[in-house]
Amino acid sequence: MADEQTFIAIKPDGVQRGLVAPIISRFEQKGYKLVGIKLTHPTKPLLQEHYADLTSKPFFPGLLNYMLSGPVCAMVWEGKDVVKTGRVLLGATNPLAAGPGTIRGDFAIEVGRNVCHGSDSVESAKKEIGLWFKKDELVTYTPTIFKWIY
Ligand code: RTP
Repeated sequence: MADEQTFIAIKPDGVQRGLVAPIISRFEQKGYKLVGIKLTHPTKPLLQEHYADLTSKPFFPGLLNYMLSGPVCAMVWEGKDVVKTGRVLLGATNPLAAGPGTIRGDFAIEVGRNVCHGSDSVESAKKEIGLWFKKDELVTYTPTIFKWIY
């Protein structure tokens, strides 16, 4: 399905280090379509909901402070297998284990400063997109270059 969607976020370190454009480029160059984007300061309740499955982890308070420390570039990307392939483009959660050519592999060192987030399943993507975006913040269009990508 070409219309699968995923939620990708550039975390505060990525935004403040000037990595918004290179990260967007990786997704554009792959052939994925940007259908929603905004710079936002996420609230604590939003982050608690977003990371609800991690509340018992020892790193959770630090994770919240990190995510509250600056603007986040929240995005929705669309295309064939974009959830799984989006995670491949990001690389392993721990940047030291992320391969060269991946975003985390090329731009980060610490797991607690790993510059980006990507939904881990189609179900999580739906939940996260609903949490971070209103319906009217997403657009529908068919790029003419799609005849060369699909
Ligand atoms: P993400 O949600 O950011 O894409 O990361 P993920 O699914 O690959 O990894 P997850 O286990 O869900 O962890 C979410 C984020 O928590 C931070 N973390 N810190 N200090 C630590 O040991 C540690 N472990 C995880 C990372 O920012 C990770 O992306």
